[in-house]
Amino acid sequence: MKAAYIRRFGGPEVLEYGELPDPTPKSGEVLVEIHAASVNAADWKMRGGQYGAAVAFPHVPGRDFSGVIVSSAGFFKPGDAVFGVCEVPREGGYAEKIAIREAIVAHKPQRLSHVQTAAIALAGLTAVVSLEETLQLKRGETILIQGGAGGVGGFAIALARHLGARVITTASASNHDYVRKLGADEVIDYRTQDFTKLVKDVDAVFDTVGGDVTSRSFDVLKPGGRLASVAVGGAAPATTRTDVKSLRPKVDRDRRRLDRVAELVAKGAVPLPDIVEYPLAKVAEAHRVSEARHLRGKLVLRAR
Ligand SMILES: NC(=O)c1ccc[n+]([C@@H]2O[C@H](COP(=O)([O-])OP(=O)(O)OC[C@H]3O[C@@H](n4cnc5c(N)ncnc54)[C@H](OP(=O)(O)O)[C@@H]3O)[C@@H](O)[C@H]2O)c1
Repeated sequence: MKAAYIRRFGGPEVLEYGELPDPTPKSGEVLVEIHAASVNAADWKMRGGQYGAAVAFPHVPGRDFSGVIVSSAGFFKPGDAVFGVCEVPREGGYAEKIAIREAIVAHKPQRLSHVQTAAIALAGLTAVVSLEETLQLKRGETILIQGGAGGVGGFAIALARHLGARVITTASASNHDYVRKLGADEVIDYRTQDFTKLVKDVDAVFDTVGGDVTSRSFDVLKPGGRLASVAVGGAAPATTRTDVKSLRPKVDRDRRRLDRVAELVAKGAVPLPDIVEYPLAKVAEAHRVSEARHLRGKLVLRAR
């Protein structure tokens, strides 16, 4: 099969495109012919060695995909259109084929293309887990979403709105119309305005940006409020406030949560993000764009 892979950690130039042996499914796994995979921030962090995970080279990155079942372990039948989010550190979305545990694969929403489905997979799963399970966001609450124009932030805006929350988000001025269209009630231009001066006493913060944005976000929570960050490593971010909760979502993969992502988009509760497509062979270019941290929406690699 054709695949994009790395043989060492490094910059975008370590990404190679070429032939690798087809994967062989083990017991309980399906073989999927991949049509599209998205680029997630985790991909360039992993490529750069930031996670220090025990990776076997050559390693095929890619944490999500949309494609068609070639062989099943029992739940699906050949020809079913599916999508999935890969387990770490195995990954494998940047290829024409993947062998993956059947239990973490779900039916693709019918009305969506493979490119559109890949765009909502890990970003949607992360937003669903963070807002519905970790923050347990409720109707009538106010949430500040840091990084609303990104893949995860954009899905989170629409989901928070769907759950009945009031949504404040941060984005560059050129993305304000976009985040409003996704459902943001209030938008802060983080380049010219200090969100800590404009936002006060929110029930929840969902942080997808990291760095000092995470630590400063604690200042805008009301007592008893909670902050969840997916931009930090494995542990919840540190805070000196003792009257709020700091949380690190655990983005477990399973079919039930993927079905929830599919359902939200299929019924129109969450609109599709803006999507920029690249052929898989141009993966290094796509990584450069993603790593610059200002893409609106999602980058998707077409495998065929
Ligand atoms: N399982 C997990 O825990 C998990 C899963 C998925 C993602 N993540 C993490 O979540 C984070 C976000 O991922 P992503 O894929 O959504 O990223 P992304 O799509 O690459 O985010 C890019 C967006 O960030 C915005 N941005 C950059 N700096 C900002 C700032 N200072 N304030 C507000 N917005 C800013 C940009 O908007 P502007 O152009 O408007 O600045 C851009 O649209 C990453 O750190 C990723 O590793 C974790």
